[in-house]
Amino acid sequence: MTLRLHLALAAGLLAVSAPALAQTPAGGDTGGGVVRIAKPVTGQQVYEAVCQACHMADARGGVGAAAIPALAANPRLAGAAYPISMVVSGRGAMPGLTGNLDDAQIAAVVSYVRTSFGNSYPKPVTAADVAKIPHPVLGGGH
Ligand code: HEC
Repeated sequence: MTLRLHLALAAGLLAVSAPALAQTPAGGDTGGGVVRIAKPVTGQQVYEAVCQACHMADARGGVGAAAIPALAANPRLAGAAYPISMVVSGRGAMPGLTGNLDDAQIAAVVSYVRTSFGNSYPKPVTAADVAKIPHPVLGGGH
């Protein structure tokens, strides 16, 4: 009886420590903090993957190598065409993202910024809206 209880306890302890052992780096990406990210799909995912590096997580922009305008509480987002064309073609230090993002991703991220960070322009932007904006031709040289 006592022996069986001890065995059961020992087995329980082994079971508890097994996950800790499993976390020892064994050639995988455990411990390194490197997470492989799938293609961003939602507006928030695209924002975090692409826009946030410049416009910052809170969309307040900043002043560094280039002055980055805030997207937060930005009345220029009231019309959809302007932010769409910024993302499609860029301007100045803002790179055009045609070729990095497809029309659906651009629609998602523009819809996201127009409804986040203090902006409330709720009409969703669709991939068809994005397709109507002239896109730069890629790969043709200068
Ligand atoms: C490499 C840095 C960088 C990245 C990445 C970037 N932007 Fe920009 N963005 C800028 C800069 C710089 C400007 C100002 C350009 C100018 O006015 O000449 C700007 C301007 C804008 C504007 C116009 C704001 C205004 O008030 O006129 C919008 C809208 C915008 N960005 C949206 C986005 C979105 C959405 C993304 C992600 C899909 C994005 N940007 C990614 C740097 C960036």
